Amino acid sequence: MGGLRRALPFLSVLLVGLALLAVAGYFLLTHTTNKWFEADLALRSRLAVVSARQSLKRNWGGDHAKLAETLADITRDERIMSAAACTEAGERLAATSSYPAEFSCHSVLERMREEAARGADSWSMNPDLPSGRVHLSVTLVGDTEESRGAVILVHDLSYLSRREATTRNLLLLAFFVLSVGASLVTLVAVRFAWEGWTTELRRALTGGGPTEFQPLVRDVRALAERLASEQEREARGGLWSPARLRATLTQYLQGERVVILANRAPYIHERGDDGVQVLHPASGLVTALEPVMRACSGVWVAHGSGSADRETVDAHDCVLVPPGEESYSLRRVWLSEAEEQGYYYGFANEGLWPLCHVAHTRPDFRAEDYDHYVAVNRRFAAAVCEEVDSDDPIVLVQDYHFALAPRMIRERLPRATIITFWHIPWPNAERFGICPWRDELISGLLGSSILGFHTQQHCNNFIDSVDAFVESRIDREANAVVQGARRTVVRPYPVSIEWPVHWLGDVPPVAECRAQVRRDLGLADDALLGVGVDRLDYTKGIEERLAAVDQVFARHPELRGRFTFVQIAAPSRTKIAKYRALSDRVEAAVADINARWSSGGYRPVVLLRSHHEPAEVFRTYRAAEVCYVSSLHDGMNLVAKEFVAARDDERGVLVLSQFTGAARDLTEALIVNPYDLRQASDALASALRMPAEEQAERMRSMRRLVSEFNVYRWAGRMLVDAAELRRRERVSGRLATPSGRIAREGA
Ligand code: F6P
Repeated sequence: MGGLRRALPFLSVLLVGLALLAVAGYFLLTHTTNKWFEADLALRSRLAVVSARQSLKRNWGGDHAKLAETLADITRDERIMSAAACTEAGERLAATSSYPAEFSCHSVLERMREEAARGADSWSMNPDLPSGRVHLSVTLVGDTEESRGAVILVHDLSYLSRREATTRNLLLLAFFVLSVGASLVTLVAVRFAWEGWTTELRRALTGGGPTEFQPLVRDVRALAERLASEQEREARGGLWSPARLRATLTQYLQGERVVILANRAPYIHERGDDGVQVLHPASGLVTALEPVMRACSGVWVAHGSGSADRETVDAHDCVLVPPGEESYSLRRVWLSEAEEQGYYYGFANEGLWPLCHVAHTRPDFRAEDYDHYVAVNRRFAAAVCEEVDSDDPIVLVQDYHFALAPRMIRERLPRATIITFWHIPWPNAERFGICPWRDELISGLLGSSILGFHTQQHCNNFIDSVDAFVESRIDREANAVVQGARRTVVRPYPVSIEWPVHWLGDVPPVAECRAQVRRDLGLADDALLGVGVDRLDYTKGIEERLAAVDQVFARHPELRGRFTFVQIAAPSRTKIAKYRALSDRVEAAVADINARWSSGGYRPVVLLRSHHEPAEVFRTYRAAEVCYVSSLHDGMNLVAKEFVAARDDERGVLVLSQFTGAARDLTEALIVNPYDLRQASDALASALRMPAEEQAERMRSMRRLVSEFNVYRWAGRMLVDAAELRRRERVSGRLATPSGRIAREGA
């Protein structure tokens, strides 16, 4: 189809040219042959009249019946239809029976004289009769005054029309055959030329050796680099931004689009009472990656889990997002209930999740779940391979749902650059070793070009696990694992959030948020507000958090009746019994605290157990005096960073578990051990008492850090590292070719 589109301009010019040639050829041919035929007829007429000269002479002045017989003899020639003998004065002496009345001797000789006056030595005409076209020729006869006159012969020209029609048909046929042939030749030529050009161009762009395009590519690349570095220079004055990330893609990776593989989709279409609604799931992964995709464009491959997801995709299971400002494509992959149960709830969330988090929940490993995990990884890997647009794409594989996918993608696309990011902690080798499929998981991940974790500690744990369980060489200097010709670089890339957060555009300023939230929750205007925002998950330490709040009231009586803690808890993985049990325990703990410390209309704890859209969450961050993140173990925890981003008033205190990745960056938070209830409750109390200047100083410093180390920088660093890997692979690949060897020998 594309080939036809490309060839269409050539074809149109070619066909119009051929048609013009055919029309011109037709006119030229008929004109020339007609002229020949006329000359031929004139000659034949003269010959016929000359050969009957004696008989004409004899009967001219006498027997007109004999003269008519002579004329009839002349018309025996099959092409001469009729004849007439006329005197010089234009009187008809005799004529054959079929001589047309339209051509009187007088009128014909008059015309002849006019022509003779113009210097013409012969005369003829081709008028149309109802019976068809004819040709008239006039031959002068007689040498005495009495015998002078003219013989008019009428020739049948219908055969000429038939010949013209045959010529026209032959020319039309030739035009048709030539057109079809030329079109085919053009199409084939365009296709080969295009393929040749694109291969050459691609080779030139990827530095695959000398090509005809090199001078052009050099110019284009220089221009792109100049534009990119101008953009980057502009952006460097400030922070990493979508523009700078885009510029990085252009400068280092020639603007290649990315394909993301992540289980959770950034947009979920749910059918509700008011029709189809778009939901933004509560997920750190989505918080981090969605802005990156907006900036880079490309495809996000994810599980289609919403009740209206199927209704909103096209024939290829894709939908353009974000709704209303479409900039990338979301490809949904459908799972059966059994697949979702085994792969997502079973192996990923009852096996790997508790295995990787030190939160005292026993992992459950079932072979049937693992089988589903393998099959689903394969399905998603195939979907990724369908979405790429080259044989060396950049694929970003996300999280513990897809430990096997990197190798599966690598098997199908050996030249792909696969960047895998593990969003949760990686446990020490001893702990990881309890997984029955530890070797398979590790070697699946080693299909990646780059494997990222939040912290150096998690990188070390992974490398120790490789060392303990799979055959490989570990390059400790370069933090890489080498298996045969393949190398996986293992590096820390602490994930972050977008800066500025686009959701804040829909959220009112702090004073208004404070007033709104206090009004909505029925709190006093001067109530002190604490907030926790999580998925309802046992790793988040929600029970420990509530226990710490309880201790605030027990140990700091002046806060009773003044302090209210709002827990936003998004229901999560509710098909798993342990999550349902947690939800019940949290509900009971809230009831317990409220029973102990409420008075009148005052509620010490408000539990909001439902999905909240991001704008609502940011409104609550802005309204709070303190945010408590109490995870028992967390790869990063982006709630901590979101709270900081929300507080453009430089107020509010973050109390943060030491067991989160975020605690390494946000050192101005009040860092606590969530198991130590005395320490945590004192931290909450001192947060509520903290002077405004100290709050501002801490918040300013954390805002500086989060703004600088934002998610565009996170993605940008991985992409720059990927570009460096690609460059090295290209160079070493080139050196391995015969031309590379010559280049080296010549060097
Ligand atoms: O922490 C890793 C992570 O993938 C987060 O991005 C997200 O909060 C959670 O795990 C996954 O949640 P879900 O199972 O709802 O996709």
